[in-house]
Amino acid sequence: MFLYFTLLIVTTQASLFKLTPKSRRTYQTLYTRDASNSVSVTSCACGYYIPETKQIFTHHITLNPSALSSSNLTAALSKQGWIVSDYQQTSTPKNIAYSPSNLKYNSNSKALELIVSGGLPTRSSIPSAEISTMMDRILYGSFRFNVKVSSVAGACSGLFFYKDDNHEIDIEILTSHIRNSTTQRDGVPKPGVQLTVQPLTKNQVLTNYKVVPFDGKFDPTKGYHEYRFDWLKTGVKYSVDGSSYGTYTRFIPKTAGQIIINNWSNGNPYWSAGPPLQNSILSVRSVDIYFNTTDATQIAAWEAGCKKASYKQACTIPKSKTG
Ligand SMILES: *[C@@H]1O[C@H](CO)[C@@H](O)[C@H](O)[C@H]1NC(C)=O
Ligand SMILES: *[C@@H]1O[C@H](CO)[C@@H](O)[C@H](O)[C@H]1NC(C)=O
Ligand SMILES: *[C@@H]1O[C@H](CO)[C@@H](O)[C@H](O)[C@H]1NC(C)=O
Ligand SMILES: *[C@@H]1O[C@H](CO)[C@@H](O)[C@H](O)[C@H]1NC(C)=O
Repeated sequence: MFLYFTLLIVTTQASLFKLTPKSRRTYQTLYTRDASNSVSVTSCACGYYIPETKQIFTHHITLNPSALSSSNLTAALSKQGWIVSDYQQTSTPKNIAYSPSNLKYNSNSKALELIVSGGLPTRSSIPSAEISTMMDRILYGSFRFNVKVSSVAGACSGLFFYKDDNHEIDIEILTSHIRNSTTQRDGVPKPGVQLTVQPLTKNQVLTNYKVVPFDGKFDPTKGYHEYRFDWLKTGVKYSVDGSSYGTYTRFIPKTAGQIIINNWSNGNPYWSAGPPLQNSILSVRSVDIYFNTTDATQIAAWEAGCKKASYKQACTIPKSKTG
């Protein structure tokens, strides 16, 4: 009972505070590209077969940093189907300022870096970074992010599906809550990877939010790891480096939306904490998302493409790039 109660407090607070920073602006459908400029970058005309879930998905979007060595990162990312965020989000106690200048291509590590700027705790707005898929009608799929998080405390690194705060599938790493601590205040998230399928109401708490500790498994600030979720009608299955981190079967989103990667801080001690004193950088080595869409034009183009390819077999997708 005590455990349940504590978890409830933690989760309620966490989700309350999470809702504010991630309440995104609604914007126009940006995805208007036609079949001749499809987001698919391979010749898997009849889709992508995921052996673990025995599903075929029609579309594929990648993020391939080695093709980003361009003077204009926004333009280079746009070619790969990603939008760079440039807006200020009102938040408490500090606002989050998503800025294109907080995104960098690191030619040594060949990674895309999402930076939360370090600086004085007295700042009223924290420069942060975010990218999202142009494709905003993603419904079900297999979503894989090969990233390394920062060891600098005070940031929230998010890899997630988002339609609105009631339709969301999250992987979040809080750089202030990576390692076990013996002096953890009430309401502060437990250390580990934070896995949430929203919405969270009182009754969903135990099934749809959990924290898998890193300690004893791996250090997310050292080296790249593949964080993944598979989203089907029947549930969401999380895994890291090919090992299962749990399956959620209740309150699964059934609405199409976008994939978002961000790194932010609003100084709230019950979630992101911070703001960081030094730059806190999320490094992205690769992203691969295989998905279905509700976009009728895209579906028609896929059907025509598969027909043209004489209904060849779907490509079989390897389990993981790292593990
Ligand atoms: C995705 O679309 C393909 C092709 O239409 C279909 O066979 C498959 O069942 C769909 N998967 C899901 C999870 O809806
Ligand atoms: C970079 O590319 C974007 C989109 O293609 C364009 O709007 C912007 O003006 C470019 N910026 C610079 C500095 O060239
Ligand atoms: C860290 O805490 C988790 C529980 O939150 C526990 O399972 C794990 O064993 C702890 N690791 C260490 C190294 O103390
Ligand atoms: C997020 O910000 C933190 C702190 O600024 C940084 O250490 C980390 O690398 C960033 N994460 C990403 C994914 O850019």
